[in-house]
Amino acid sequence: MLRTHTCGELRKNEIGKKVDLCGWVASRRDHGEIIFMDLRDKYGITQIVFDPDKNKTSHELAHTLRNEYCVRVSGTIAARPEGTVNPKLSTGEIEVYVEAIKVLSESETPPFEIKDTGNLSEDVRLKYRYLDLRRPTMQNKLTIKHKVYKYIYDHLDAEGFISVETPTLTKSTPEGARDYLVPSRLHQGSFYALPQSPQLFKQLLMVAGVDRYFQMARCFRDEDLRADRQPEFTQLDMEMSFIDQEDIFAVCERLFKGLYSEVTGKNIEIPFPRMDHSEAMSLYGSDKPDTRFGLLLSEMTEDVKDSDFKIFKEVISAGGIVVAMSAPGHKDISRKEIDTLTAYASEFGARGLAFFKVEESGLVSPISKFFKPETLETFKRKTGARTGDMIFMVADKKDVARAAMGALRLKIAKDNSLIDQSKDNFLWVVNFPLFKYNEEEKRWDSEHHPFTYFSEEDAKYFETGELGKIRSKSYDMVLNGSEIASGSIRIHRRDIQQKIFDVLGLTKEECQLKFGFLLEAFTYGPPPHGGIAFGIDRIITLFTNDISIREVIPFPKTQKGVCPLTNAPSAVEGTQLRDLGLKITAKPEAKGQNEGAGS
Ligand code: AMO
Repeated sequence: MLRTHTCGELRKNEIGKKVDLCGWVASRRDHGEIIFMDLRDKYGITQIVFDPDKNKTSHELAHTLRNEYCVRVSGTIAARPEGTVNPKLSTGEIEVYVEAIKVLSESETPPFEIKDTGNLSEDVRLKYRYLDLRRPTMQNKLTIKHKVYKYIYDHLDAEGFISVETPTLTKSTPEGARDYLVPSRLHQGSFYALPQSPQLFKQLLMVAGVDRYFQMARCFRDEDLRADRQPEFTQLDMEMSFIDQEDIFAVCERLFKGLYSEVTGKNIEIPFPRMDHSEAMSLYGSDKPDTRFGLLLSEMTEDVKDSDFKIFKEVISAGGIVVAMSAPGHKDISRKEIDTLTAYASEFGARGLAFFKVEESGLVSPISKFFKPETLETFKRKTGARTGDMIFMVADKKDVARAAMGALRLKIAKDNSLIDQSKDNFLWVVNFPLFKYNEEEKRWDSEHHPFTYFSEEDAKYFETGELGKIRSKSYDMVLNGSEIASGSIRIHRRDIQQKIFDVLGLTKEECQLKFGFLLEAFTYGPPPHGGIAFGIDRIITLFTNDISIREVIPFPKTQKGVCPLTNAPSAVEGTQLRDLGLKITAKPEAKGQNEGAGS
């Protein structure tokens, strides 16, 4: 071993001992003849001292040391003199007088100082991620992630689950995003797809009798990236046989209670509350409601349908709705602020934002005159608005009005610090619709995925054609407004699965081509089963109080899907393309992609 101790380990009771330490030079302070340095490793920082009276050679060498040099020092532990003890450091009571030093490797001047304070550009951090990860906060995040993985393995093992791997080179899976494709050399013109999730394999494992499966599964989705989305991310993927929704909820709640206590030391109450999807949408304008604050939405459609306000009436007669919300204490916000909120709502499709100031005398707005006094009173009553508040309204198609108001609700709460950050509000959202109508393509899509079972009570709507009324047996786990998991009870009968494919407009040939293997497996005694998948990176982001998922992924991609460290994706050799039987027809990108690729 090169070292006897780590840089976070030495305490007062070891004073006088001889030790060997290894680490990086984090900082240096020259105090006349004596030189002090902070030596850093994963475990902490130890102050090392170069005193010419104690060791001349080391002291001379110390002059040549620069930040981030990797060194090994041998020396003796001493108590820090009175008044120089550093209570912020776990090793703050001691220092090590250096008797010998060896430079293990030198360092260029790093592009940024390796410390936790200061605002660093994310681009630079990602380009030099190995330096960024040297920072103690980043080391801590890696450790938290490891602890989460370890807890999950141990907990699920104790609950009778086994971890089984599924292929990475596979066939397209139906999670709704674009696939990443991998061309086959042996079967030119054919492609593997990287899995968007192990959905079909975990169902096949149930047919295989595995009974309780889990996996820390890497998933790949070519979709628009956001703060909580990466093209490559990790799911805790689970599936169980001979269970119903209640069994799955109980397993997940036990897991979360233990995990939460392990990582945060907090006790969370189980079982988690449940909310119907329809309630989430009507009260919060979101299928992942943040219930840590109020500002609930209320619908005014019935109250305004006979008013004189043309815009509302037109929207309603075209099948739309009017949604309202009261913003506390907002009566006196400026015209400019209203414009900002209107522009924000328009990002979610709203064509306008009506507003009413709640004065002592009543509701004041350029459009108040179009409504009867009792209707204005209803606005106030239903939104719970008080004098000094502002009532906002959006009239639009149901989805748009709700999404815009739901987004506005979150913005107003965040901008005005109305969210109680000490709360951890877990929630199951249940009874999602089975299908959603795709206006553009004029067809029905699955709300979750096509393998989701439905409520038997609603089966009659298949016959009546009221497909929008069928509730599925799918569920999401939501924590503080973030969807952290999603799952469902699955269809396990071939005929029912076929019925869903029919609704989705898949031809017999398409079904055979895409899912023939699953349908065939379902002819061999499949057990009833169901499962769920947790977005692990999202969960860790909540544990570390980060805003971006990129903070907790060791080597993430940028919003544009690029890895600034390796510069992936990048061009490949012409010979590689030829081996794969591929020809590039797209123009090379500015960054030089596919240059020299033989196109
Ligand atoms: P779903 O597609 O809802 O379900 O994914 C499950 C959970 O994975 C997380 N997640 C993501 N995290 C980071 N980046 C992304 N691009 C991303 N996409 C999803 C979310 C989400 O709740 N096979 C089904 C699960 C099942 O039915 O068992 C599935 O993958 O936290």
